[in-house]
Amino acid sequence: MEYSSKRVRRGFSIDTQNKVININGEIFTDPSQAKVSVFDRGFLFGDSIYEVTDAYEMTPCFLEEHLDRLWISAGKLFMPINYSRDEIASEINKCLKKLNSPRAYIRIIITRGEGEITLDPSNAGRNNLIIICRSLQVNPSWWYENGVEVVIAQTKRTAIESMDPSIKSGNYLNNILAFNEAASKGAYDAIMLNHDSKITEGTTSNAWLVKDGTFYTPALKAGLLGGITRAKLIELCNENSINVKEEDITIEQLKGADEVFLTSSTKRIIPVVKIDDHIVGSGKPGSHSLNLLNLYLSKYQLPR
Ligand code: PDD
Repeated sequence: MEYSSKRVRRGFSIDTQNKVININGEIFTDPSQAKVSVFDRGFLFGDSIYEVTDAYEMTPCFLEEHLDRLWISAGKLFMPINYSRDEIASEINKCLKKLNSPRAYIRIIITRGEGEITLDPSNAGRNNLIIICRSLQVNPSWWYENGVEVVIAQTKRTAIESMDPSIKSGNYLNNILAFNEAASKGAYDAIMLNHDSKITEGTTSNAWLVKDGTFYTPALKAGLLGGITRAKLIELCNENSINVKEEDITIEQLKGADEVFLTSSTKRIIPVVKIDDHIVGSGKPGSHSLNLLNLYLSKYQLPR
């Protein structure tokens, strides 16, 4: 059977502007030239780990914390990393210099490497280190003026005992299934429950609520990714004598909150104004969430 080149490379419509890709130290500015093997275990099995942060004026945000988490993820997967922290940092700098953008998105991916098609990780060669950098605008002002809508997903977050959500692995199918539910309802994102029907997190963010001036976010034991932003915000609340609690949260508590928001490295804080058909609080982004965002941005001198 003959395939047209279009058919073989179906779906390949990546914006080629303002992207720099680094594969094991080699820099590519044309995304179509940046390729890894089909025998890479990241491609075959999702056997990879990753981190996402942003850089502002060439300085990656909380890079040490992201590298700490990268090594924790690798440890939980028994995946050796053949790169040092300094090597990864210097490869990121190479990309940022080439990109030369005021704000940049940085994705650091480490795969277990290439090998025969077998689950046995001992078959893998050296890691592939892939860094993707692209220009990133400041977050849209409508998030803070209008907020976003989310749904509670029917798809449950994988249990700690099955595929531990604290591992930031390249297998995001659990989250994609939940995101599909949000997309099918026109919502911005989905919030996932654990098998005890307690709130865990968004598909690529941590979940928070504010009730009577106290901030609540699910405890790590609910089964979620320990977000760097989440940890920084908990610290910030403590420094500013703002009440903050990590504990189990039910759907009823989330819907009954005065304010709800999501957090992640690139998105910072996104106010949530609607959950399923339920309007949260006043239906507008709340002052506690926005004040916390401002405290965070000013403490770390970050753009929105
Ligand atoms: N996502 N939970 C999940 C499942 C995530 O994927 C993320 C991050 C977070 C927030 O973590 P942090 O504050 O460290 O960014 C929580 C990144 C941004 C992503 O996948 O693009």
